[in-house]
Amino acid sequence: MQKPYVYVTRKLPEETLNALKEKAEVGMWPHEEKAVPREVLLKEAQKAEGLLTMLSDKVDGELLDNAPSLKVVANLAVGYDNIDIHKAKENNVTVCNTPDVLTDSTADLAFALILAAARRVVESANYVKEGKWNSWGPLLLAGADVHHKTIGIVGMGRIGEAVARRANGFDMNILYYNRNRKPDAERNLNAEYKDFYDLLKESDFVVCLAPLTAETKGMFNREAFQAMKKSAIFINAGRGASVDEEALVDALQNGIIAGAGLDVFEKEPIAVDHPFLTMNQVVALPHIGSASVETRMKMAELAGRNIAFVLDGKAAETPVS
Ligand code: DGY
Repeated sequence: MQKPYVYVTRKLPEETLNALKEKAEVGMWPHEEKAVPREVLLKEAQKAEGLLTMLSDKVDGELLDNAPSLKVVANLAVGYDNIDIHKAKENNVTVCNTPDVLTDSTADLAFALILAAARRVVESANYVKEGKWNSWGPLLLAGADVHHKTIGIVGMGRIGEAVARRANGFDMNILYYNRNRKPDAERNLNAEYKDFYDLLKESDFVVCLAPLTAETKGMFNREAFQAMKKSAIFINAGRGASVDEEALVDALQNGIIAGAGLDVFEKEPIAVDHPFLTMNQVVALPHIGSASVETRMKMAELAGRNIAFVLDGKAAETPVS
């Protein structure tokens, strides 16, 4: 019997797809750092029963309506705002993501951004590399403390809770804002629920981990940055489109807030001439939240298993809906 065809939109380590290869013939875009062109993706989708996609691939109505055999799309990310899940549902296509396996790695990175932005780690490392270090100085590259400060977590999902666990280790006061309250987090993590604007007013570090939805799109706007402390540091390890970037540039340039640590941007990759990249008080990373080798291997394996299960007529391990 002919095996179903599955297309993987980025080069992944072959060994992560062993379970999938037992069930399917697997085609793969051969590049790791170059996204699959739209026309190739559309063509592959026309004949595929499964797609293993990246967060940079648009899985929209055009693709889904021209993929007659498609049964499952497994996204290599916990976020799935690149996929039209309503259309997928209409077309009986199961959509899967990769939750849990990336929680701790992404929380580590969010915390790395907090520390890097507060303690001027990147700026200091560049200072040494550029040969500028002449002498130890009492206030040379002095930043802000993280310990015993107030962190405001916007989006208290699995990753938000993992950031709160790390914040407890730094003796921080933990505030959170979420669509719905999290009594377990309040009890177990000493996290206090606040309205969005109260959280912004009271936090030294405002950390965005919210998924991108109609409600969160552009929620960090001019008004939001105005509400923050002048000394506040804004961290985004969620999605770039939750932020009005022009408003954030203004807030940073005009001292409305003190700094930012950003792993995600409205447009990725960010343009090399973006004003963020000229500011010492901004730490900008290329969307590496979950990018440890161990975690990326687990994510690829999970995505592969999800496709294999669905093609086998079984329930997916981590369906989105
Ligand atoms: C995701 O998986 O959605 C995150 O952005 C990982 O970095």
